[in-house]
Formats: sequence, structure tokens, C-alpha cells
Amino acid sequence: MNALAVTGIGELVTNTGPPLHHAALVLTDGAIAWVGADHAAPAADERLDVAGRAVIPGFVDSHAHLVFAGDRSAEFTARMAGKPYTAGGIRSTVAATRNATDEELRANLARLVDEALAQGTTTIECKSGYGLTVADEARSLRLAGEFTGETTFLGAHVVPDGVTEESYVDLVCGEMMAVCAPLARWIDVFCEDGAFGADAARAILLAGQEKGLQPRLHANQLRPGPGVQLAVEVGAASADHCTHLTAADIEALSTSDTVATLLPGVEFATRQPFPEARRLLDAGVTVALATDCNPGSCYTTSMPFCIALAVREMGLTPEEALTAATAGGARALRRDDIGVLKPGARADLAVLNAPSFVHLAYRPGVPLVAAVIRGGVVCKELR
Ligand code: NIG
Ligand code: FE
Repeated sequence: MNALAVTGIGELVTNTGPPLHHAALVLTDGAIAWVGADHAAPAADERLDVAGRAVIPGFVDSHAHLVFAGDRSAEFTARMAGKPYTAGGIRSTVAATRNATDEELRANLARLVDEALAQGTTTIECKSGYGLTVADEARSLRLAGEFTGETTFLGAHVVPDGVTEESYVDLVCGEMMAVCAPLARWIDVFCEDGAFGADAARAILLAGQEKGLQPRLHANQLRPGPGVQLAVEVGAASADHCTHLTAADIEALSTSDTVATLLPGVEFATRQPFPEARRLLDAGVTVALATDCNPGSCYTTSMPFCIALAVREMGLTPEEALTAATAGGARALRRDDIGVLKPGARADLAVLNAPSFVHLAYRPGVPLVAAVIRGGVVCKELR
């Protein structure tokens, strides 16, 4: 493959040290081959001069639910008028998803993945969870797998209508797991009142681990509960949401390698309090930021929006927020090849129409991503 030099970088965030200024990158075979000063850039077959713009690692969105059909904007309107979010809304998306054709679900997925890519997301995780039958969960994972290798079996999203919790947990751990595990990398459970309790969640996570899936968990979203400590107990890569944390939860996370994945778009769209990110960071917990894109609790694909919220509402510095949205997401997916720009890493990066990454939070709502390169391929041309 040809070598592509990206030159004229005004500010380069590598996540290996402080940002570099007047920098350049060389990409070959889909990977970063060289990082250094602009004036010292080696010759390459092609050159992309970004004329002083900032360059960052592509965003790693480690939590999204993109296989769905239907619209729940009326729920959002009701929440903005004061109605609380409940897990039960999931069932209306389940009905719409089961009724959709493969083509309709694929088109919706493609639209959302493209939308995310155009905003700088070069890796996206995608969960099942709106099928809740063996066939519909398997279909969701097959479709998700057409777009990402980071697929997550979330058959335990909510107990579907017409079955008891006990019989559904048996199904998820048994036949559904057997069919879905080969189609997924991760096992996830919505551990919450109104969804699954700690004992059911533990049984499902362990059944997934037995089939070779790695655990991650929706934890402590709506109220304090056992989720975060269960995530740590089973060695989950990530405890996601963490909206309601006790001191013991933070202590458990800080002595583990479980990442706290914060989803501030959910707090925005459900009027919940924002998680105490500062306490997590000060305790030494690795924090990731992700969108949670889904039709119920947060319908955004925008990592820049999540960064802006994290800075404005959770007390992260712009640098901490960008780190969480890139390297943090990579940790939450246990990946060393993404979220960082260093020789050998995947050539996944975004060019910003801004002199500094700080503009991601400083200019909220503005489409700042000027170009995107994923695996060395220019997916969005500089403009
Ligand atoms: O992460 N919390 C569980 N699942 C999603 C919401 C799903 C829905 O409301 O449709 C979440 O917020
Ligand atoms: Fe979620």
C-alpha cells in the first residue's frame, strides 16, 4: 500500500504524551508508520496537507445500541416535561424491531454508523437487545457484525412480555446463548430495577464467559445498586452508566481494571444527574465516554456532543474528556491498537476544522470534523 503523509498539523493529539505542534504523520498499510515534526516528515507517495488544523485519534464509541426500528421521540418530549425515564420503553422498540425487515434494520444501522463516522468515530461497539427471541437476537448480532467487530449480546436487556423472569433468564443462558455467542465478542446485561437483578445478571455474565464472551455491564443507571460491584467481581471490561455511585463502588472500580464508561448524553436526555466523573478520575479509575446511541434514553451518535457535556456538566478538562472518548473507549474494549496515534497503531484519526482539540467543547454543536481516516483509508475527504 502507498504511504500517505498527513502534514501541516497545527496540533496533534497522540495520547502518548502532551499534544505536538507543527507535526506530521505517515500512514502505511492501514497503520501509523511515523509520528514527528512537520519539517522532518519522510517522503511519502501521497500527501494530505491539513493547513494548521488539529488532528486527534478517531473516537472509540464503546457503547451503542444501533440495531432497532421505530421512533420514541414522544417519550423524549414527555421526559422534557418532567416524566421519568423507565426501562419499560425498551419493549416498544422490541415490537418495532421484530416487525422490521433485515433491509430496514441494515439501512438504519448503516445510516447511524455513517453519521458517527462523519463525526469522527472510527470504532463503534454495537449491542443486540431489541430482539429478545433467539432468532431476533441472532439476527441483530449478524447485522451488527456487518458493521463492526465489537458486537455485544444483550439478550438480557429487559424481560419480554408474556414470559417470567426465571424462564427468560434460562433461555438467555441456554439456547439463546448457544446461538448468539458465536456472533458476539461481548456479553452485557441491563442490571437495574425493572430489568435484571444481580443474581440473574451474574448468572448470564458467567454463562457468557463460559462460551468465550467477555463481560461488560449496564450498571447503576437509574439508582444505586449492585451493578458496579458485580462488574468488578466478574472482571468486566467496563461498567457502563455509573450515574449513581457510592464510595464503595468507586473504591471497587479503583482497585480493578474495569473501566467506568460514562454516557452523559443519557443524563442530558433523561434529566438524570450527571455521574460524578471527577471523583472517579481523582480515585484513579479509568473513564471512558460513549454515546449509548439508542432510540430510548439517548439518540445521539455524536462523540463531540458527549465531550462537550463531560466538560460542561461533569468537570472534566477538555483533555480528560478527549482522552476518555479515545484511549478510554479503547480500554473499555480492551484494545491496544486504537485510541492512540503511535507507530504500529491503526491509522484511525480525525482532522478538525479548528486549531485545537479544545474546540470540541468550546464550539458545541458545530460540525468540526473536517476529515476522517479509518484504517489508513480516507473515509471523509478534507473540506
Ligand atoms: O443504555 N439502559 C438500558 N438500555 C439503554 C436504553 C434502552 C432504551 O430505552 O431503549 C441504555 O440507556
Ligand atoms: Fe446502553
